[in-house]
Amino acid sequence: MSELAAILAERIRRDGPLPYDEVVDSALYHPTYGFYATGGQAGRRGDFLTSPEVGPLFGAVVARALDAWWDELGRPDPFRVVEAGAGVGTLARTVRAAAPACGPALHLVLVERSAALRAGHPADVTSLADLPEPDGPAVVLANELLDNLAFGLLEMTGGGWSEVLVDVGEGGGLTEVVRPAGSELLARAAPPAAASPGARLPLQAAAADWLRRALAVAGGGRVVVVDYLATSAELVGRPWTDWVRTYAGHGRGGHPLVRLGGQDVTVEVCLDQLSRVRPPTAQRSQAEFLHAHGIEALAEEGRRRWAERAHIGDLAAVRARSRLTEAAALCDPAGLGAFGVLEWTGQPSSSQG
Ligand SMILES: C[S@@+](CC[C@H](N)C(=O)[O-])C[C@H]1O[C@@H](n2cnc3c(N)ncnc32)[C@H](O)[C@@H]1O
Repeated sequence: MSELAAILAERIRRDGPLPYDEVVDSALYHPTYGFYATGGQAGRRGDFLTSPEVGPLFGAVVARALDAWWDELGRPDPFRVVEAGAGVGTLARTVRAAAPACGPALHLVLVERSAALRAGHPADVTSLADLPEPDGPAVVLANELLDNLAFGLLEMTGGGWSEVLVDVGEGGGLTEVVRPAGSELLARAAPPAAASPGARLPLQAAAADWLRRALAVAGGGRVVVVDYLATSAELVGRPWTDWVRTYAGHGRGGHPLVRLGGQDVTVEVCLDQLSRVRPPTAQRSQAEFLHAHGIEALAEEGRRRWAERAHIGDLAAVRARSRLTEAAALCDPAGLGAFGVLEWTGQPSSSQG
């Protein structure tokens, strides 16, 4: 049993079974034994790198998007851009390397919960462990953050929706138990009525809470979320092991309760659960978002430079060639290109948010 499992087992013996999200939160973010405290970081998840880790092209397109959003906001100086779940700061570095027009006004705030990863942030950006206080209109960006936030679990049992909790089993290890879900939990989760026995549903309270706070920080600016998207209705129809994915090393991991702290735990993000906070103003695929912000022109520039310099084979030629491979990976309809990009702009109406 891992140190972390022993700590949680001790707590469960004392206080009773724990909600799933508390266990997942510890597995990922326990300050000593959590995955992200012990060397885990974005990069290769199974077969995919996160988009900023594919290479500098994603950041170059985001830099163009930032210029467009800066214009829309009336070119504020400072232009506050908050990147949440920033990891070691790769996206911020590549945005800056692209030298956007808004660069001189750009005030980057990188928010990263893991102290180990914050240590990698560039020295000249504001680096925080949690979202800052609202301070005028801002852009809040999060790439693959919400799928990495803890989630509760519901399961359809004979008597209706039950909550999945984590208990200590007879052998002393952590095990799942189901208990009828309370009316308050059901009211919050609003699970689909139709589901087969054994169907499961994630309850993404942490993601909804993050969005609520991010909208306040954006203050009428823009919140942009890039992630694996689904709906609650879709997820109850798929095996839960399909939409809760764990990663260890460079491959898939095991059940979320094994190797606690030794594997990444991710969940597809339910659009309907976020929409209950506030429906997004725009929703499109990553490929559509990147095309709208000029990835084709950047790839074309790479193609031209590669044609000019391939015979020289210098660094500029290799970079140009790499831009083409990156564009293909970032727009791949069977991979990163299929991710969803959600945007919230403007002020919420008084009944929302
Ligand atoms: C999958 S990684 C993505 C990193 C980076 N955005 C990328 O795309 O390469 C998710 C990151 O979010 C961080 N994180 C999790 N919860 C957070 C929170 N509430 N606030 C800020 N960062 C958080 C994790 O520590 C992790 O570094």
